[in-house]
Amino acid sequence: MTDPLPFDQPRAAAPAAGSTGTAELGPTGRPLPVLPEPQPLHAHGGARVVSMCNQKGGVGKTTTTINLGAALAEYGRKVLLVDFDPQGSLSVGLGLNPHEMDLTVYNLLMERDVAIADVVVPSGVPGMDLLPSNIDLSAAEVQLVHEVAREQTLQRVLAPALADYDVVLIDCQPSLGLLTVNALTASHGVIIPLECEYFALRGVALLKTTIDKVRERLNPALEVDGVLGTMFDGRTLHSREVMERLVQAWGDKVFHTVIRRTVKFSDSTVAGEPILSYASSSAGAESYRQLAREVLARVSSGEAAGR
Ligand SMILES: Nc1ncnc2c1ncn2[C@@H]1O[C@H](COP(=O)(O)OP(=O)(O)O)[C@@H](O)[C@H]1O
Ligand SMILES: [Mg+2]
Repeated sequence: MTDPLPFDQPRAAAPAAGSTGTAELGPTGRPLPVLPEPQPLHAHGGARVVSMCNQKGGVGKTTTTINLGAALAEYGRKVLLVDFDPQGSLSVGLGLNPHEMDLTVYNLLMERDVAIADVVVPSGVPGMDLLPSNIDLSAAEVQLVHEVAREQTLQRVLAPALADYDVVLIDCQPSLGLLTVNALTASHGVIIPLECEYFALRGVALLKTTIDKVRERLNPALEVDGVLGTMFDGRTLHSREVMERLVQAWGDKVFHTVIRRTVKFSDSTVAGEPILSYASSSAGAESYRQLAREVLARVSSGEAAGR
């Protein structure tokens, strides 16, 4: 939690052409850092596993999983998305029919002879694959209770895939139950999307306690990669106040990138594709590209620091 991030101070970077040199304040009320263009990778593997986690529904977990994944894939990263919500919104949001799935994450978790290669499907986005789910996954939560090392089940079944991908993003269900504990145990990092409205911070203490417990008991390396403000409306004082409170509570863990409220997200869900392809030059698509650059900058600074 206390690791220095590259955004702690405003950068002394060269001001953009035409600017006066004063650092521009971003939507979080802090000076916007210069986010470097990600360098292409020459080899893949050694994936960083990141969970999108918040026990509140409707905060943008699934939207962030799809679009951050698509943006990372645009930057040449090999991405695996894991639908870990029995509602299957991630799978549906990528155009899959929940009734037409042969094998799902449920089979991967519960059946020893099923491997990732049997379950993985293309997402429609070049460089990004998907492990789909449907309502079957709700049975896993009940059945896993009786398993040995029940919290490590997802970690165990995902392990062979880490050599093939650069990033694995897990879309969690809106609860702090056993499936979410499995996701956190399998992860290097967690991203917490929070809707920019007054009650956004309710329940976050409980989420933080859950993350701390998983770190203490199951996964000492687990880090909070960042807190993401979603459904931001810069015209309202309200949204700006929520951002201010987020920064007070989480400091530099709060991403400089915020995701603004726009109907394009629901439109792209109906179309069954990421906003990055549905409305490639929209502000929403651009925000997720910026988030991808910010995530890559944070993670690579961590690697450089020997983490
Ligand atoms: N930035 C945004 N602006 C407007 N609508 C959004 C935004 N992000 C997500 N949505 C919409 O809000 C709903 C909930 O988002 P979703 O990503 O499914 O949340 P969660 O996975 O946390 O339940 C969806 O209909 C989605 O299209
Ligand atoms: Mg969801």
